[in-house]
Amino acid sequence: MNIDFHAHILPGADHGSSSPETSLRQVGLARRAGIDVLAATPHFYPNLEPLSEFLERRKQAEIRLREALPENAPKLLIGAETHLCRGLEHMDSLEQLCFGGTKVLLLEMPHDFSIRAYEQTLDALLYERKLTVVLAHIDRYPTSVVDFLLELGFLAQINAESFCHMRSRKRSMVWAQELQSVVALGSDLHGCEIGYRDFLKMKERLGETYTTIMSRTQELLGIE
Ligand SMILES: [Fe+2]
Repeated sequence: MNIDFHAHILPGADHGSSSPETSLRQVGLARRAGIDVLAATPHFYPNLEPLSEFLERRKQAEIRLREALPENAPKLLIGAETHLCRGLEHMDSLEQLCFGGTKVLLLEMPHDFSIRAYEQTLDALLYERKLTVVLAHIDRYPTSVVDFLLELGFLAQINAESFCHMRSRKRSMVWAQELQSVVALGSDLHGCEIGYRDFLKMKERLGETYTTIMSRTQELLGIE
């Protein structure tokens, strides 16, 4: 099974797609790349927008896309890429940001991340809200930060492009091959320009490891 865990494909939900036409092109690219399950993960910035507004915008975008989807489209899964901010743990309805029917939250760390600033929030997300938190694109962060967070019980998603650049390829390969906590891979698709070029390259480079990670994703999301 091929699962793209991280893609910005809901029309008007964020800057990933400005129209249903663009979204349909993105879905078509996913289908041609053999993607079976496509997770729509629009950006949610809790500091910039109330959750209720985001959820309404996401719902409208989902309706617009589902109305236009062809029959042979990949199965669409609705989630969000939630930006980590202090106080996130107190937000009502946080579960609505999780992938449909699960307690799995895709969390994006800020670029100025420090454990000291976010420790309380991170701890509460895991142990009070009891969420399963998958860190988005760990390939963007320093090794020491990633190691520390995975040690604490966070899970990880790696972006396809990191397997395709010399500067990041080796580290992503080692993480994917050695860490059980790497549970998902993503295109992080924005627009149509790159499409699934990097995703397919990643699949080829990872070989058996790709299949192993996809099984973890399938289990995590309860996909039959
Ligand atoms: Fe993203």
